[in-house]
Amino acid sequence: MSSITAAITAVGAYVPEYRLTNAILETLVDTNDEWITSRTGIKERRILKDPDKGTSFLAIKAAEDLLRKRNLDPAEIELVIVGTATPDMPVASTAVYVASEIGAVNAFGYDLQAACSNFLYGMSTAARYIESGRYKKVLLIGADKMSSIIDYEDRTTCIIFGDGAGAVLFEPSEEGYGLQDEYLRSDGTGRQFLKIEAGGSLMPPTIETVRDKKHFVRQDGKSVFKFAVSNMAEVSALVMERNKLTHEDVDWLVPHQANKRIIDATANRMGLEDSKVMMNIERYGNTTSATLPLLLSDYEKQLKKGDDLIFAAFGGGFTWGAIYLTWAYDS
Ligand code: UT7
Repeated sequence: MSSITAAITAVGAYVPEYRLTNAILETLVDTNDEWITSRTGIKERRILKDPDKGTSFLAIKAAEDLLRKRNLDPAEIELVIVGTATPDMPVASTAVYVASEIGAVNAFGYDLQAACSNFLYGMSTAARYIESGRYKKVLLIGADKMSSIIDYEDRTTCIIFGDGAGAVLFEPSEEGYGLQDEYLRSDGTGRQFLKIEAGGSLMPPTIETVRDKKHFVRQDGKSVFKFAVSNMAEVSALVMERNKLTHEDVDWLVPHQANKRIIDATANRMGLEDSKVMMNIERYGNTTSATLPLLLSDYEKQLKKGDDLIFAAFGGGFTWGAIYLTWAYDS
C-alpha cells in the first residue's frame, strides 16, 4: 500500500428545481403514491426540464458549488473524472467539456461508465491517481440526466429515476485520512436485467429502434432487486469484517439510493441503526451516478474529521462494491 492516502476534502452538489412528485406520476401512468412509497421510499425526483441542457449542465453546477465553497482556483485541478450513464454525447467526453467550462484549464478529463456504480468506481480511480503521488487535486463528479433515457409511459422505471449531480475533490492526506479499503465486483451475466438495448455498437440506432422505444432504460426490477439486496449487503459486511470494524465503529453508511428496502437490508446486515444511514431517496429518487455525492452534500454538516464511512452501491452490468473511507475534515 502507498503511504499517501486519498482524502475527500470538499463536496459540491446540484439538483434542478422542477419536482416530479408521485401525484404528477399518477397522471402519467397507472400508479399511486402508496405503491411507490411502500415499494421504493421515493416521494419526488428532480428533473432538468430544459431540452437544450444535458448532463454537463448538472455537472458544471455541482463543480461550481464545490469551487465556491472551497474557494479553489480551478486552474489547480489536474484531472476531472465524470461518472455518468447519460453523457452529453456518445463520443466527445462530457468531463472534458466540464473541465473547460469550469476553468480547469490545466486538467485532463474523461468519463467513466459503470451504471449506478459510477461514483463508487470513480472513487477508486481517483484515489489511485492521488496515491501514486503524481497528482494532488482530482475532481470526481457523478452526474446524470436520467430523464433523457426514461420512458414516461413505463411505470416500472419512470417512478424510480431522477436528475442530479454531485462533486468531490480528492487530495493527498499526510495523516492517513481518506480511502482505506475497497472491494469492487462485477458480473456481466447481469446485463440482460438492466440495460438500454439500442444506440450502441451492438444495435445502432435505426428508425425501428426509435419506433420500438429501444433507447430507453428497461429493467427486470425483481431480478435486479434480488441481486442488489444480497450483494450490496455482502460486500459492505465483508469490508467491515476485514477492517475489523464493528457496527459501533462505523459512523455512517453511504448507500446508493435505488430502493429504500435495499438500503434497509444492507444496514440491517451491517447491524447499523437508522441514525447512521444516509438517506435522501425520498426527495431525489435514484440519480444513478449522483446518489453518493448528493448524500455527502446533504449530510456534510454532520460529518466529523475521523468519522468512518462505508460507501456501497449496486448497478447495471452488474457492477457493485463497497469502499471504506475516513472523513478528513470538520465542516
Ligand atoms: O440502481 C440500479 C439498480 N436498480 C435497482 O436496484 C432497482 C431494483 N428493483 C426495485 O427496486 C424493485 O424491483 C421495483 C421498485 C422496480 C419494483 O418493485 P417490486 O416490489 O419488485 O415489484 P414487482 O416488479 O414485483 O411488481 C409487483 C406488481 C406487479 O403487478 P402484478 O404482476 O403483481 O399484478 C407490477 O406490474 O406491481 C406492479 N407495478 C406497479 N404498480 C403500481 C410495477 N410498477 C408499478 C407501479 N405502480 N409504478
